[in-house]
Amino acid sequence: MPATILVGAQWGDEGKGRIADWLARDADAVARYAGGDNAGHTVSAGGQTFQLHLVPSGVIHPHVRCILGSGMVINPIRLVHELKLLDERGIDISPERIHVSLRAHVIVPAHLELDGARERALGKASIGTTRRGIGPAYQDKAARTGLLVADMLDPDRFAASVQRATEEAAHLLSAQYGLESTTTGDLGLEYGQAAAFLRPYLTDTVAIVHDLLEAGGRLLCEGAQGTLLDLDHGHYPYVTSSSPIAGGALTGLGFGPREVDRVIGVAKAYATRVGGGPFPTEQNNPTGDRLRAVGREYGTTTGRPRRCGWLDAVALRYAARVNGFTELILTKLDVLTGFDPLALATAYDLPGGRTQTLPIHTGTFEQAVPVYETLPGWTDDLGGVRCFEDLPAAAQAYVQHVEALAGVPISLISVGPEREQAVERARS
Ligand code: IMP
Repeated sequence: MPATILVGAQWGDEGKGRIADWLARDADAVARYAGGDNAGHTVSAGGQTFQLHLVPSGVIHPHVRCILGSGMVINPIRLVHELKLLDERGIDISPERIHVSLRAHVIVPAHLELDGARERALGKASIGTTRRGIGPAYQDKAARTGLLVADMLDPDRFAASVQRATEEAAHLLSAQYGLESTTTGDLGLEYGQAAAFLRPYLTDTVAIVHDLLEAGGRLLCEGAQGTLLDLDHGHYPYVTSSSPIAGGALTGLGFGPREVDRVIGVAKAYATRVGGGPFPTEQNNPTGDRLRAVGREYGTTTGRPRRCGWLDAVALRYAARVNGFTELILTKLDVLTGFDPLALATAYDLPGGRTQTLPIHTGTFEQAVPVYETLPGWTDDLGGVRCFEDLPAAAQAYVQHVEALAGVPISLISVGPEREQAVERARS
């Protein structure tokens, strides 16, 4: 049973890229299964920092093969750009190790324009998307009008399809939103060139995954976004348009649950959210400002300041359920140094009474008032700690409390941004 699924347990930005990089040491292949360049995964290694949006974080390890799976939506211009940047920094981007599914869908400028137009039209009720065209691309996919990566196999026809999609979108923009399309330049040429560059990478990734698993290889499925942004299981409509949860790895890559032996949730030691939507433990005050400053909580993709707050154990328990976590990884524990007392939400007060279960109706969740437990903080710098017993007693107690509330063992704790700044705990 050689597949591990790595999932964001909160609203995204839990530090999955760095954890994927850590776990990739023991993997033969790392695969992204959902989303697109709305993701921003930061990995620091060997004094260099890499910001990845489409290519799986495992790419930094030369022995690992990287897969961009069928469940993804891919902007070819951005993918070419990302690959070239990696190449410039000495990372092997040969098509022998990077594979893009023929069944993934393509994001074109029309999707970006429609994403922006919809957000503007929603005004105060906007979702706060990354404006990378994710929603409109998945919408086209579901409507069966999308462009497949397979269409890139014929660059001339692909260029013509991109042009056609652009004209259709211009029509829609004008009819529905009274807007002029701002897409300029020779898209046909630009997309034709991107298709030609990517041609050697396009392949049947389902076959690659199965050949690897059948040969006993280890596959790491790298989630993007987070459980509470899941299209089905997050608080609609404040969600992304894909399935970031563990189940999404199976549909997005095309293999069955029998192959999975570990489902790892990644949660920050506190909580953040970007974009709109309910966030009961948000601290719109100096505590939140300090978490943002110390944790450098600004979006990798959009640069937006993230909303910051205390850890929400009710939401974490929900994430453990919908994903079936076998273990949790807690990131950025060092950011909590100096906060005293620490708080975490263990229940919500709702008009109908107190609950320890996440309300799934968005309107109800918006009314949730968190019930906090407080724990003593610590002042010691955690950056050099590598062993759980060397953490200050209050930090150990905090981790153990989160573990008990989530009902899932915590196997790894990150205490700084560098690869080696982590505390590993024995797995039972
Ligand atoms: P979209 O995925 O760009 O359509 O955005 C939908 C919602 O998901 C917005 O609230 C975004 O801020 C959020 N979102 C999308 N990708 C990420 C991510 O990688 N990290 C955190 N939030 C994200």
